[in-house]
Amino acid sequence: MLRQVSRALALASLLCATASATYHQQFQQWNTQKALSQPDYTRLELASFDIASFQPIGSLSTLTDQFMVLGHPAFPKYSVRIKQSNFCDGSVAAYTGYIDVEARHLFFYFFESRNAPDKDDVIFWTNGGPGGSSSMGLFMELGPCRVVNSTTVVFNEASWNSNANIFFIDQPVDVGFSYAEYGEYVSTTEEAAKDIAAFVAIFFEHFSSFRGRAFHMAGESYGGRYIPLFSSAIYDQNIELVKAGLTPVNLKSAIIGNGLTNRFTQITSYYDMQCTAASVEPITDISTCIRMKQAIPRCQKLMRTSCINAFDPIGCDEAIQVCRMELQDPYWTSGMNVYDISKKCEGSLEETHCYPITKFIQGYLSQPEIRQKLGVDPSIPLDKPLSSHNVGLAFSGTLDILRPSDLYVAALLERGVDVLIYAGTYDWICNWVGNERWTLDLDWSGKDEFVKQNLTEWKVDGKVAGVTRSANGFTFATVNGAGHMVPYDKPWESLEMVNRWLKNRQL
Ligand SMILES: *[C@@H]1O[C@H](CO)[C@@H](O)[C@H](O)[C@H]1NC(C)=O
Ligand SMILES: *[C@@H]1O[C@H](CO)[C@@H](O)[C@H](O)[C@H]1NC(C)=O
Repeated sequence: MLRQVSRALALASLLCATASATYHQQFQQWNTQKALSQPDYTRLELASFDIASFQPIGSLSTLTDQFMVLGHPAFPKYSVRIKQSNFCDGSVAAYTGYIDVEARHLFFYFFESRNAPDKDDVIFWTNGGPGGSSSMGLFMELGPCRVVNSTTVVFNEASWNSNANIFFIDQPVDVGFSYAEYGEYVSTTEEAAKDIAAFVAIFFEHFSSFRGRAFHMAGESYGGRYIPLFSSAIYDQNIELVKAGLTPVNLKSAIIGNGLTNRFTQITSYYDMQCTAASVEPITDISTCIRMKQAIPRCQKLMRTSCINAFDPIGCDEAIQVCRMELQDPYWTSGMNVYDISKKCEGSLEETHCYPITKFIQGYLSQPEIRQKLGVDPSIPLDKPLSSHNVGLAFSGTLDILRPSDLYVAALLERGVDVLIYAGTYDWICNWVGNERWTLDLDWSGKDEFVKQNLTEWKVDGKVAGVTRSANGFTFATVNGAGHMVPYDKPWESLEMVNRWLKNRQL
């Protein structure tokens, strides 16, 4: 889920929590310094090592319900703790564990494919936020089971592990069951990408049955920023792995659902969502729509000057504040569901993210026996929320979302990594209009042919599921009648979409 990247909101919720104003001030100073300095690169240097010193584990089936620790001489700062934790699916093996990066620890779930685990592709999934736990993806969207109340889950027939092995990761540190021993934070996607790339390499190195297996990086919402950078980190790391005599990770594609990949096209497209029939009939009053329409050119000019042509952190932040006030706030403050323009928010954004089922996920995961089964670190409080405010704040402090992400998509496409951008048509916050716009604007060598394609209908069981455009490995698709969390609203259509993508790279 995408969290409001708003200073005011973040500040309010921080003050409601435990942190003091002094802490907040220090935090902001530290982050501003970070924002003003050069952003980090996603690339992680490999240590030099003796290949003969490495013994892979071989097969996942050697794991027991006790943690096994995996290291790799190329990544001396990293290790992976993994155990068998059969739960949730019941028909396939499930594993959980931590990626340990010195004092930082990232929690993950891994489920084998229901079809042919030894042959099927591997999918990596992350939810967004920044700060959202992937347990939302697992327990209410595309995972092998869904929560029905705080103590019960049921088998999900439409899970994405129907034809693929799949990871769910709580990242970066402080999200969900992930933690840091000394309160360290990751505050940029570039930093987060290094941990993910190292984890992926260690996993594929140890479990030799997965070596060379087709691999797909997938995510939703703020995943529109995470996934292009994470995939790029994995791609660049492959060059190092090959140099060191190791097998590269067979990264085939990136999959992004209702992503926030381009903040600038997204912010102006709120007008289309509210004041035209792009999704539902216009829902905002004419006077407000006129004001929004008039704000667009001014907002675009400000963003172009301070965010796009050159990146001036203070100017860009200011531009975004203006655009947000004019274009985002009218709907944001209306009490409608920001993730689904056809619905009211059930509960409040802070309490339920508009979906009461999220409270069940939190309740389910706070049961001590479930925690124990998963191997969750005992330091994680039982009432820890699904979303980390600290991570949201840290990322908003570095203006992470205002850095380019679509350029990474272009770079991946140039290198033969295919990209699927899909969007539920009812989502407001990361709506399909803004997503279609940046896919059409994107500069890459396949652009002309991509832009020439008309949107055509794609169908499931003879019924129209949405529209799609595809060329040269790049696919854009809508899913009719789905909000921000497509697999939650349209489980079968979303599974069919993913299966077709894995198989043929088009819908
Ligand atoms: C949860 O749902 C299950 C199955 O419907 C039911 O047996 C159980 O009583 C429910 N528990 C609670 C706390 O509502
Ligand atoms: C797209 O649609 C237009 C109008 O129907 C048609 O003229 C054009 O040939 C179509 N383009 C492609 C690539 O199919």
